[in-house]
Amino acid sequence: MIKIAPSFLSADFRTLENQVRLVEEAGAEYIHLDIMDGHFVPNITFGALVVEAIRKTTDLVLDVHLMISEPGKYLKDFADAGTDILTVHVEVEEDVPALLDRIRKANMKAGATLRPGTGIEALFPLLPRLDLALIMSVEPGFGGQSFMPASLGRARALKAEIVRQELDVEIEIDGGIGVENAHQVVEAGVQVLVAGSAVFRDGAIAKNVQAIREAAGRIDE
Ligand code: DX5
Ligand code: ZN
Repeated sequence: MIKIAPSFLSADFRTLENQVRLVEEAGAEYIHLDIMDGHFVPNITFGALVVEAIRKTTDLVLDVHLMISEPGKYLKDFADAGTDILTVHVEVEEDVPALLDRIRKANMKAGATLRPGTGIEALFPLLPRLDLALIMSVEPGFGGQSFMPASLGRARALKAEIVRQELDVEIEIDGGIGVENAHQVVEAGVQVLVAGSAVFRDGAIAKNVQAIREAAGRIDE
């Protein structure tokens, strides 16, 4: 089954609890939370405190995407906040395999991701340590950007490698996802669709989630 992960970067932060309720009612599986530090990416968003507040309002899977330079330093904070899946970038100047092992030891699922310009092969040796592999289909840092079509080939290559290694790693995609490309990315092997602007557009969350799911689901069986 395809999973939809609304990115709260596009949510209305005046009424966070209400946004969580609407996302639950829309039938989304994950809540995708983008953590940016103004250093790894130019933008700053929010930290573990906000993740913890959201945790108190929902049992949905909290899928936390760290776009920060020193993930190791904050790993425990995100575990304590109630994170279910913690995803780090392979470009950070830290020992990524060790980070992934620490994430699992802290009872979270481990995810890894990479910028669109980083070769997809960077994920291959990490796969045995991963529960989730995230393909960035835009340059990380901002919502509302256009989907990069080269991501489809990257998804296919990743899928083939997961099959080759006989592993069970979920493939997620993030950036510019909507009804126009949901079908293509699923066909390329993606199981989790992150969508920010396409979900929160006009506040019609349930309608938007359903439209994305239907577009994806044309081959979802
Ligand atoms: C970008 C973030 C995304 C972003 C996606 O750096 O990782 O999660 O919110 O937004 P849309 O779906 O609008 O491209
Ligand atoms: Zn993200």
